[in-house]
Amino acid sequence: MINVAILGFGTVGSGVAEVLEGHRELITQRTGRQFRVKYILDVRDFPDSPFGDRVIHDFQTIEQDPEVDVVVETIGGAGVAKEYTQRALRAGKSVVTSNKELVACCGHELLQLAKEKKVSYLFEASVGGGIPIISPLYQCLSANEIFEVCGILNGTTNYILTRMIGAGLSFEAALKEAQENGYAERDPSADVEGHDACRKICILAAVAFGRHIYPEQVPTEGITGVSLADVDYADSVGKKIKLLGRALRNGDGTVTAYVAPHLVDQSDPMAGVVDVFNAIKIRGDAVGDVMFYGRGAGKLPTASAVVSDVIDAAKHMNTKKYLDWQEGGEDVCASADSLVSPWYVRAEGSAEALRRALPGVSLLARHGAADSELAFLTGPMSRTELEEKLAGLSFRCVLRVLD
Ligand code: HSE
Repeated sequence: MINVAILGFGTVGSGVAEVLEGHRELITQRTGRQFRVKYILDVRDFPDSPFGDRVIHDFQTIEQDPEVDVVVETIGGAGVAKEYTQRALRAGKSVVTSNKELVACCGHELLQLAKEKKVSYLFEASVGGGIPIISPLYQCLSANEIFEVCGILNGTTNYILTRMIGAGLSFEAALKEAQENGYAERDPSADVEGHDACRKICILAAVAFGRHIYPEQVPTEGITGVSLADVDYADSVGKKIKLLGRALRNGDGTVTAYVAPHLVDQSDPMAGVVDVFNAIKIRGDAVGDVMFYGRGAGKLPTASAVVSDVIDAAKHMNTKKYLDWQEGGEDVCASADSLVSPWYVRAEGSAEALRRALPGVSLLARHGAADSELAFLTGPMSRTELEEKLAGLSFRCVLRVLD
């Protein structure tokens, strides 16, 4: 019998209990082992839940119970979740989590502790919700030199952009709709300002490139600066605006990682990823491009990933689980300002000055644009070069074009 304790009985925690118990026979058939939810830790009581009798309020009971094999941490954040994770690992229990904030800030430290204690720390659900991505990247693609990881990593912002593009809603109206549908939090800043996607690209980059990358090292721009004018201009050149997290390996071994909205050509599969769906593209030297697509959030999709890790942890009891990466440092990341790409620019200024700076540039058109508005695409250049060349313009929106 594998005994599981769930920390936090919110959306994901309750989904984990439902999937583990609801698929009890199937899981036993597939693994030859029985799993049961022994404890649920929460500050609240759940008298109406079928799991109500397992709810406890002190972590110590879990920590000191030698029968508990796997602790599922779905509390979130890097406060008490970190303390309980460390205590569980020190007590010789494997920990499985969906907590991207904790993995992004402290993954290396927690993986080291897990290694020391010969248990597993697994976090498939921390990126892409139900999409299998951490194990495929670490295991199935381990024969490849990875060049790039690029993804639509946040469902809320993808929903907002989809509604701006498809229904012509303003950012504010699309955000309100996302909140009404239960996709966006009441405080949506972590989503719309790109921090959620930033944490996820940090985790993917660490797995892909083998060094910890901290969220503070990753320039992050959300979608609050994207307007319907930009959506229209993008549409006029056959492109869609998507918030992407990217991490690229440079020739000198450094990593360029950033989060920003991009113009993506409508022929690119990323452009067809709509609503709350996520997609992650990985470029390896042997495999070429592979793409993973599915539900990036939600109770059962996320529980699907958590429970698969619980099963994996149980399979790896008394053996070393493979996940690992080196510590971070100032030498890991290169500035995204030197990454060369074409750009979309919406600005105010003189068309003559623009033509002197970028001979041959074509202006984009949209219905209702002010006379002083200039919108155009550039050739490939770095952000530093773009700002030098176009110093005479007042930028309103500058977005990379995915090439
Ligand atoms: N707020 C996140 C999203 C939830 O919208 O993608 C899943 O991490």
